[in-house]
Amino acid sequence: MNKYKRYLVTSALPYANGPVHIGHLAGVYVPADVYVRYLRSKGEDVIFIGGSDEHGVPITIKARKEGVTPQDIVDKYHTIIKKSFEDFGISFDVYSRTSSKIHHKTAADFFRKLYDNGKFIEKTSEQYYDEEAQQFLADRYIVGTCPHCGNEGAYGDQCEKCGSTLSPMELKNPQSAISGSKPTLRETSHWYLPLNDYESFFKEWILENHKDWKTNVYGQCKSWIDLGLQPRAVSRDLDWGVPIPVDGAKGKVLYVWFDAPIGYISNTIELLPENWEKYWKDEETKLVHFIGKDNIVFHCIVFPAMLKAHGEYILPDNVPANEFLNLEGDKLSTSRNWAVWLHEYLEEFKDKQDVLRYVLCANAPETKDNDFTWKDFQTRNNSELVAILGNFVNRVLVLTEKYFDNKVPERNATTDYDNETIAEIPKIKQQIEESLDAYRFREALKETMNLARLGNKYLADTEPWKIAKTDMARVSTILEISLQICANLTIAIEPFMPFTAQKLLKMLNMPQLKWNSLGKTDLLKTGDTLGKAELLFDKIEDDIINQQVQKLLDTKKTNELNNYKPNAIKPNILFDDFAKTDIRVGTVLDCKKVPKSDKLLQFKINDGAGERTILSGIAQSYPSPEELIGTQVCFIANFEPRKILGTMSEGMILSAEDANGKLILIRPINQVKEGVSVG
Ligand code: 2FM
Ligand code: ZN
Repeated sequence: MNKYKRYLVTSALPYANGPVHIGHLAGVYVPADVYVRYLRSKGEDVIFIGGSDEHGVPITIKARKEGVTPQDIVDKYHTIIKKSFEDFGISFDVYSRTSSKIHHKTAADFFRKLYDNGKFIEKTSEQYYDEEAQQFLADRYIVGTCPHCGNEGAYGDQCEKCGSTLSPMELKNPQSAISGSKPTLRETSHWYLPLNDYESFFKEWILENHKDWKTNVYGQCKSWIDLGLQPRAVSRDLDWGVPIPVDGAKGKVLYVWFDAPIGYISNTIELLPENWEKYWKDEETKLVHFIGKDNIVFHCIVFPAMLKAHGEYILPDNVPANEFLNLEGDKLSTSRNWAVWLHEYLEEFKDKQDVLRYVLCANAPETKDNDFTWKDFQTRNNSELVAILGNFVNRVLVLTEKYFDNKVPERNATTDYDNETIAEIPKIKQQIEESLDAYRFREALKETMNLARLGNKYLADTEPWKIAKTDMARVSTILEISLQICANLTIAIEPFMPFTAQKLLKMLNMPQLKWNSLGKTDLLKTGDTLGKAELLFDKIEDDIINQQVQKLLDTKKTNELNNYKPNAIKPNILFDDFAKTDIRVGTVLDCKKVPKSDKLLQFKINDGAGERTILSGIAQSYPSPEELIGTQVCFIANFEPRKILGTMSEGMILSAEDANGKLILIRPINQVKEGVSVG
């Protein structure tokens, strides 16, 4: 028996400092949306809460870099993110933002209640202060040398070179990222939530009573609890955020991770000003948080501790966090532009939202990190959506039009095989439900596709096109049953692919039916006229995929270029050392590839005194070596000759590597006489 009367489903509030990408969709928003659409279809009372997380230091850093205000930054990205979610059919009941008035009031009131009830401890500590900018420095605002690897650009919270977690005090030569000045230490006081006081509660609530949580979630919670919970600061010295509503707290705001989850409550209040409390304060509400794995501790420990300290709120029933999605083998990254941005995808794959929803759900990082590759995207589209789902629906509709004037035919006597096929449908329904109820979305989608597989197999086995001349009554039955499978598909695919469900409904000329109709085979009535058959999906060709792969390769090259750091300078030498090297200019008389080598080019050079042969390993950078004939090169003339692949090489040609790894020949910018020295 379900002990719950209603559902409150939240999905992590993305930071409004960049657009959203496939990682967001796969990790959080597709599973959350599938779950909510499924519940709605079942007729459950459910609300789906979303919004932008608009506070925190990274937003202030971005604003400072771009010379705008933090509000400008969040206004820009909130709009972009909200639109991406709408475009992809993420069906929030409310999508608001934490810079809203309602949120500021809700978060401030929440803090105040905990403060008044003595739920915080106040502690004073020394923190870095920028005398020039006259402000305390958040960890990210301090740069210095990493004590572990010597990286001079390490941040106060982390060294991005060696990955160490740091505290600002560990950095050598700390500098303020705001003014560049050397920060001083000043005393400041902050409020802390003593998580240690809740340890026994968490041991019971999570470790004993929530063994049903996903192993990745349970495991992370257990290791946190086992390590011992510590008090956590809930305030910061910063001028961007929710001001602390207490006398003497000027210049202090709520820590972003304190106010952000309260955003779920604020947004519910915005949605249902009169009615929000029953969703948050009634034990008959099932609260589910959809998040990514980096948010687990905040949703399973910190926020529940806040809710418990407050005293009036329910706690989450489940937190089905996903692992991370990678892109072509590398970690997704906003700053490195290593992502497939949703708004860009839609420009390039117009109206193909469901293809991405499908691929991301089929490949969701539910139990381990997973990789998105464009090749897999193409295969899933072509071999699954086109070949299984699209193909089945299309065959049924085309045959019905051909043999029955586009009307639902009647079902005559059925065979055992027909009945077995029909009996499979409610079984598939049950499988989908079991998977969705357990937050196993990949499995649920597979079961959903099994319905289309069932239809395909039924058509392939019964071959109605072959018996059309001899047994129209039989054809009629086969197509009627097939059409009922199509009608079932409109219900089953809706949570996963809502746009395709709409298309299919139009083709079948039927209204969207609820989940309880799934499994039935009387959804279409004999004589009903169908709509126009169209293709549900089209094949994606290689060139489209290659373009996407190329785009990522270009990004990689740009990143390498941006990150290029020259080698350290070698120790000094004296003129005599340099003078030993005889560098000269020569003209290329002939240049060709060395047989059996993909690296070597063989040059014949006019060196002023005669001709010499030099082999050089630059073949991959110059695929048309004949084009070099007549140009000039610099070479080391007194390089000890040596035999390479049977040819004597008499010198060394000079080149420099560009950002893409291509070797570029060095030559005088104007023609000079062969044999002149370089120096
Ligand atoms: O990791 C993030 O993107 C956070 N902005 C998630 C916040 S979830 C909630 F607490 F609002
Ligand atoms: Zn380091």
